Amino acid sequence: MKVFADKILQDKVAFVTGGGTGITGGIARAFAEHGAKVAITSRKMENLEAMRQVIESKGGECFAIVSDVRDYEAVSNAIAETVKRFGKIDIVVNGAAGNFLCKAEELSSNGFGVVVDIDTKGTFNVCRAAFEELKKSKGQILNISATLHYLATPMQIHVSAAKAGVDAITRNLSVEWGRYGIRVNGIAPGPIEDTEGMRRLLPENMKEKLRERIPLQRFGKISDIENAALFLCSDAASYINGVTLVVDGGHWLTGTSFF
Ligand code: COA
Repeated sequence: MKVFADKILQDKVAFVTGGGTGITGGIARAFAEHGAKVAITSRKMENLEAMRQVIESKGGECFAIVSDVRDYEAVSNAIAETVKRFGKIDIVVNGAAGNFLCKAEELSSNGFGVVVDIDTKGTFNVCRAAFEELKKSKGQILNISATLHYLATPMQIHVSAAKAGVDAITRNLSVEWGRYGIRVNGIAPGPIEDTEGMRRLLPENMKEKLRERIPLQRFGKISDIENAALFLCSDAASYINGVTLVVDGGHWLTGTSFF
């Protein structure tokens, strides 16, 4: 069900990393359904191609380009190609992320580093590479974070550290780039159904126990995150800057971890 006016992102161009699947795939699709032209990027063309077809089948415009957010040159190229295709960039969504469960004492330095490289450095790379375009458009950035680091989440030291870094990027850039008219915000999703994250991180036999711990007594839906993203990236949020909006049904406040 659509809760926002059909064309609230009319004439906007959005660049969405990790935009082929899951939460960020949903955001890309929802943005297109609300009038934006979207560029989606990730490491795998097959994921992008599937989402491009979904968006185009609903009458949207979508440009799919492969890039790894860890590779600054590849990201810069994807941004340049998007500008060539659509003329500008108004919105950047940083959704590309890596995740796996691992105890801290079993995690290698490289395992820690690969997640920080994707989530934190990847977010910086995309923001930095898009800066000149966002300055021209007085655009905005939406960083997908998490709630894992608000308390402590076992088996997730790497992701917790990486997302704490993402939140720091959101706050810093909101202050440094606010003067250019660029708004920088984030969303911290809780447990969201039908995502790669849930499939990877939550064993089937623990699902019901976790659901009961969520104050709203249900898992989030991808559409819950889409709606938060539409709000934050629309003019309705034109004075919201430097915020990471928690969308988790109240879960993190219970102090119970996923695991
Ligand atoms: N447990 C422990 N360590 C792991 C691991 C796991 N499940 N998966 C990867 N690692 C470690 C590897 O052992 C390696 O360290 P080493 O060289 O010391 O052995 C390091 O991480 C890099 O692994 P590699 O497979 O080469 O990295 P990659 O760049 O190909 O993969 C990941 C990136 C690791 C994040 C991978 O899980 C991934 O691509 N995930 C898909 C995206 C995703 O998770 N989305 C959901 C977001 S919630």
